[in-house]
Amino acid sequence: MIIYSEKEICTIRSSNQIVAKILAELKKMIKPGVQTKELDEYAEMRTRAMGAIPAFKGYRGYPSSLCTSINEEIVHGIPSSRKLQEGDIVSLDFGVLYDGYYGDAAVTYPVGKISERARTLVETAEKAFYKGLEQMKPEKRISDISFAIQNHVEAEGFSVIRTFVGHGIGLSLHEEPQVPNFGSPGRGPKIKPGMVLAIEPMIAVGDWNVEILDDNWTAITRDKSLSAHYEHTVAITQEGAEILSLFDDKDEGSLCFKEREHA
Ligand code: MF3
Ligand code: CO
Repeated sequence: MIIYSEKEICTIRSSNQIVAKILAELKKMIKPGVQTKELDEYAEMRTRAMGAIPAFKGYRGYPSSLCTSINEEIVHGIPSSRKLQEGDIVSLDFGVLYDGYYGDAAVTYPVGKISERARTLVETAEKAFYKGLEQMKPEKRISDISFAIQNHVEAEGFSVIRTFVGHGIGLSLHEEPQVPNFGSPGRGPKIKPGMVLAIEPMIAVGDWNVEILDDNWTAITRDKSLSAHYEHTVAITQEGAEILSLFDDKDEGSLCFKEREHA
């Protein structure tokens, strides 16, 4: 498990700000009729324009820059000519490598008007992340995050996917420790300043059994129930937890691109 310096966290912040900016731009493209591969192409083009490298492309053979997971697809959906339809929910999971450090975030967006149930599911995934975030302070332990996420999701009547976990991130896309989205509290490493973690609840309307499609990537709920995903990269600093991948138009002070240092 790596403890990062403030200077390193600054670069990880830059990397995550690129991720956040591109996810915010992709949000505007989400509408019925758009092909998921158009989203992927846009994300890759914008990443390279900002001097970064798509983190997922080529990772263990993954073929695209973006993961687009629709409805019962949980994670790792491969962009294709499939068109988004009114009423779908689509999770966009995206990562980049910038100046030697990784950023990673995911969000589930509605396509047009969605059902009440779908909306509650999407909101619960996001809220579960924030419940986990509340636990990210020194002296707490990793599984306190897990427990808080599971508690919230199950209290809303949904289930937590157990096959995939959150993770440390920085010099690599996936580092120790693993951060499950379920489990009893008080276990695992203590949370310390300098830790950088990607917290990513994946939840479903039905049960948590997972099936992998023939493309060897796309994970779906076995019962085909709707699934949502929400992820941010979070740094623990002396002041507390900071979400590095939050897009904020106004907060330019949080950016630390090299250009800015030289300005
Ligand atoms: N965001 C995913 C994660 O946190 C990464 C996707 S894996 C890839 O694990 F293979 F699609 F790149
Ligand atoms: Co991740």
